Amino acid sequence: MDQRTYVMIKPDAVSRRITGRIVSRFEDAGLVIDRLEMAQLTREQAAANYAEHEGKPFYEGLVDYVTSGPVVRMVISGPDAVSVCRKLIGATNPKDAAPGTIRGDFGLILDANIIHGSDSAESAEREIGIFFGK
Ligand code: RTP
Ligand code: MG
Repeated sequence: MDQRTYVMIKPDAVSRRITGRIVSRFEDAGLVIDRLEMAQLTREQAAANYAEHEGKPFYEGLVDYVTSGPVVRMVISGPDAVSVCRKLIGATNPKDAAPGTIRGDFGLILDANIIHGSDSAESAEREIGIFFGK
């Protein structure tokens, strides 16, 4: 089923200038980049994106991190785009992420894990709405 998802390259990866190599991973897999822009998240947008984690010990640090510099955000589409993108991204903690995944190849630190991808079709539509409008 063709589907769309929201993917966001986080500030650590933007400052390391690896965004092009990361975008290529999705294109190489055959997915389509429908929207792409660099932007500075507001705290309100970051809080809305991570509302499910509000109150957890890492929440404030997470909002600080994703607002610490510009991100590159995208809408990506293709067959089962949500789960395919999550598979290309890899496990949440880069040190546990398999080689060949984006987190496995580019990171080592949980608090700077390079990239975000929506975890369900519902999350994807909600997050696309927050960042790109309906
Ligand atoms: P994301 O939402 O960023 O794509 O990551 P995810 O689904 O793989 O992981 P999630 O559970 O949604 O966690 C969101 C982000 O919070 C940070 N985190 N820190 N210190 C911790 O225990 C902890 N757990 C999660 C990570 O930056 C993760 O991407
Ligand atoms: Mg998540």
